[in-house]
Amino acid sequence: MAEFTLRLRRYDPESGEAAYWEEHTVELEPHRSVLEGILQARATTDGSIGIRCSCRAAICGSCGVRINGRPGLACHTHLDKAQRGAKDGVIEVEPMGNMPIIKDLIVDMDAVHWKKIQRVTPWLQPKQPVPEREYVVAHESMVDVTQSLACIQCGACVSDCLSMEVDPDFIGPAALAKAYRLVGDPRDAATRARLEDLASDPHGIYDCTHCFKCIDACPKGVAPMSQIMRLRRRAGSDFHIEDPNNGERHERAFVSLVRQYGLLNEAELLPRSYGGDSALAKFKPSAAKELASSLPVIAKALLRRKVTPTTALKPHKLPKQDLDAIERIYDKVEGRDERFELNLYISGRDEDLT
Ligand code: FES
Repeated sequence: MAEFTLRLRRYDPESGEAAYWEEHTVELEPHRSVLEGILQARATTDGSIGIRCSCRAAICGSCGVRINGRPGLACHTHLDKAQRGAKDGVIEVEPMGNMPIIKDLIVDMDAVHWKKIQRVTPWLQPKQPVPEREYVVAHESMVDVTQSLACIQCGACVSDCLSMEVDPDFIGPAALAKAYRLVGDPRDAATRARLEDLASDPHGIYDCTHCFKCIDACPKGVAPMSQIMRLRRRAGSDFHIEDPNNGERHERAFVSLVRQYGLLNEAELLPRSYGGDSALAKFKPSAAKELASSLPVIAKALLRRKVTPTTALKPHKLPKQDLDAIERIYDKVEGRDERFELNLYISGRDEDLT
């Protein structure tokens, strides 16, 4: 047995009092979980501590919290590991972010997480005619969705999503990972409609800023950001959906600039994003609204010197041998008959590996 100190964030919105920290000391074996520590504190010292849990085996997704500032499952985090990661040896536990607090460590998942899951029509819309018996799908065709299928809806990715912090209407990593689970399923009949919907929503797939926070946060390796990027590839490269958010054109601008210069040439990024693959391409009138809404962001970036007029406007380009090497990479990728999606969940039989 060892002694651990937990610093719990306490808050009861009905009391009218501000949130505060409260310390509890528990005695448990070091390999026991933070959840067991909290439950012991609740059982022995303060029965009013609010924490949600069910399976205690990292399956149900109920016990999502922030431990030492990082989201995770309380039942899946060992006390000794959490103590090593604590600043002063005291394990800090607080509720997840981006969701309203119901009490102490319990957040309102209905108000944010489940509402967003409902937004993406989270069920299969079957192809017709419906077979008499089960749908038979090729084993390979399901490999691509196994990663998103692993989601246990704990909300850890929602808690840490920086885009959602700035834009609470962003559909978010968990719901978009769920959307990919359905878009990638060969039994679904609404693939195009789903992609058009998610690409044209201003809070949809192009609202993600690639901060990687959701990938770090997910305790199940779902990598929600990778699923969002897959949705973009399906929408742009496979279905050629031109979205009113200019997201697909903006991505194409990046690709064409790196191919031409080896670097991102900021001076040409806007004309290409709002025009075409050449800086002289005609400005797309439908993009005017989007461009106007970006002006404050551009002004802010200039003021904060994230971009300076000189670096932005001065043409920069890699030497010829580097550009040739880059061109070979493009040729190789574009020359493939099939696009391979990297999936963390490897499927196959041992004999396939030999
Ligand atoms: Fe079920 Fe932690 S209690 S995931």
